[in-house]
Amino acid sequence: MDLQLLRRELDALELSCPVGRVSGVKGSIVEVAGLADLAQIGDHLVLSRARGSELAGEVLRIGATTIDMLPDTAADGVALNDPVTLHKVPSLTPGDHWIGRIIDPYGKPLDGKPLPSGREARPVITSPPLAASRRPMGERMSTGLAVLNTMLPVVRGQRVGLFAGSGVGKSRLLAQLARGMDADIVVIALIGERGREVNEFVHKVLGPEGMRRSVVVAATSDQSALTRRRCAWSAMAVAESFRDRGMNVLFLADSVTRFAEAHREVATSAGEAPALRGFPPSVTPMITALCERAGPGTEGQGDITAVFSVLVAGSDMDEPIADILRGVLDGHIILDREIAERGRFPAIDAGRSVSRSLPDAASDSENQIISEVRKYLGSYEQSEVMIRAGLYTEGADPVLDKAVRLWPELDAFFARSENDGIGASFDRLGLILRRGAGPADHATR
Ligand SMILES: Nc1ncnc2c1ncn2[C@@H]1O[C@H](COP(=O)(O)OP(=O)(O)OP(=O)(O)O)[C@@H](O)[C@H]1O
Ligand SMILES: [Mg+2]
Repeated sequence: MDLQLLRRELDALELSCPVGRVSGVKGSIVEVAGLADLAQIGDHLVLSRARGSELAGEVLRIGATTIDMLPDTAADGVALNDPVTLHKVPSLTPGDHWIGRIIDPYGKPLDGKPLPSGREARPVITSPPLAASRRPMGERMSTGLAVLNTMLPVVRGQRVGLFAGSGVGKSRLLAQLARGMDADIVVIALIGERGREVNEFVHKVLGPEGMRRSVVVAATSDQSALTRRRCAWSAMAVAESFRDRGMNVLFLADSVTRFAEAHREVATSAGEAPALRGFPPSVTPMITALCERAGPGTEGQGDITAVFSVLVAGSDMDEPIADILRGVLDGHIILDREIAERGRFPAIDAGRSVSRSLPDAASDSENQIISEVRKYLGSYEQSEVMIRAGLYTEGADPVLDKAVRLWPELDAFFARSENDGIGASFDRLGLILRRGAGPADHATR
């Protein structure tokens, strides 16, 4: 470690901490006197109970003479005048040495190895670049998956939602993107997963190949709502630090639903009334602000291309979080439980998914292929129940006839990993369409 880094680490050490006293407890909130002039929202607090145990928390609200502390766990055993120490939140200092590492939302390593600070401290909550100074969305990115390369292109700086019920393959698909997508660096926010799942995701699903160019920021489900909420912000701050250095960053968040739930817990504790099916009204600006931080950079910067996973109960795309996200994002990928149940992964429902980078992101001939495939998918899906029931007879509808012929090949194509780039994916898809040529082509021309 060079001398400058060492000096910064020493400067960051807190040699003394201000101490306040508990002046009241209201429900789950602890009121503290004596720190109002010194505290900032988000600072850490540690309360020492008379019995000896400690209770950690965060500054939630600041009044004229007292502050409100949101404890990480229940405020059992807290008494008037218990001492509370105030600790400044350490700044995040991401750098190249964070690549391949797992960190918590406060920048501490979670993989048991030491993590020196980077050169520059980054704020965790920032404003997005000014809309007028942002570049438009950029080049198409190779995704490593044939279906995304063709039907649902992702361009640099695009923000996409990944919507699915539980256990349909969101995390696996994000890991596939982390391994296969054309980006300089990948930043992954794991928000509110169980501890075991974080390990499994990093070591088994993402694997060494995915970790090689990734920074994982994780907050597990047993951590406080404030920490879980901060996880998304911290990961975005890491992504921004690489973007500002001109890199093409892929940001993956699993999941925005847990981020919204963490915010709901915090907001409810702060007294905000629930509105959108239990979510407070502030959840909308909270999610929008997070998503807006991703996207194209300004001149001289790189881009943050983002995929946000969203848990949708059943297939309820109108539930509040999914609804908010659909309005903010430039596309949505929908995973379908029925497709997953018959074992086709990724279980992307290409017919219902949309990329708003189309038609600009594809050439005329590519757009032609996409719309033909959509036509046949639509036709097949409309008649699927009939086909499965054995009520379909060839010859009545030439488009449906071709759709039925194409279906198995399209289905296999949608499961395909693609290492040969976007052009190769379109060549394959074009070939499938031509191979399925029959009387329908004359009838529909
Ligand atoms: N690409 C794949 N190949 C094979 N199996 C898969 C694939 N994707 C998902 N699965 C199967 O689906 C299961 C669930 O996948 P995953 O954990 O990614 O879903 P999820 O939507 O993230 O679930 P949760 O809602 O619990 O977070 C996996 O354990 C695996 O059995
Ligand atoms: Mg998951």
